[in-house]
Amino acid sequence: MKRVAILISGGGSNMIKLVESMVGDHPARAVLVASNDAAAGGLEKAARMGVPTAAIDHRPYAKDRAAFEAELLKPILAAEPDILCLAGFMRVLTPGFVERFSGRMLNIHPSLLPKYPGLHTHKRALEAGDTEAGCTVHEVTPVLDDGPILGQARVPVETGDTPETLAARVLVQEHRLYPAVLRAFAQGERGLITL
Ligand code: GAR
Repeated sequence: MKRVAILISGGGSNMIKLVESMVGDHPARAVLVASNDAAAGGLEKAARMGVPTAAIDHRPYAKDRAAFEAELLKPILAAEPDILCLAGFMRVLTPGFVERFSGRMLNIHPSLLPKYPGLHTHKRALEAGDTEAGCTVHEVTPVLDDGPILGQARVPVETGDTPETLAARVLVQEHRLYPAVLRAFAQGERGLITL
């Protein structure tokens, strides 16, 4: 059984879908949900689902990312995860942290990478006049929103879409894609999953 730690920064809707998926014959179980923000709504939801939680506020370490990560690492290492899932975790991780979990850290990003790494993905897709948008699950490497793509889901851009309406349509697909990719990844499969 693989042990999965999930990092979040906000409401944690993707985290919930991941945790909910890891039951029965699933090859993995959630062992920790950690956040850089003690007020992240997802922490309480994780606790209610019976998953241990940890919060390390990044703000006291504003000028020292490595010091923040050293604190974040403590509960993560204590949980002994095989796989680390970033699920709406909004801090950029240093190469040192990423390399520690090389080949076993996943991220979900709300665009069809390699398009639109970084922030404001839906706004950028609309401004570019794209006719489709979507989300990507990829292995995390030291380059932001880079790394081998393991899954993508596409949605149409509709007339009158705003960043918010498009984000909501993409999020529905994120909730399908991430559990599908995690299950395959936990089984050792690395093929591309498209929804
Ligand atoms: C999701 O849309 C996720 O793809 C995005 O943040 C949202 C988190 O929602 N992640 C990023 O933008 C990472 N750069 P959630 O907390 O409800 O899962």
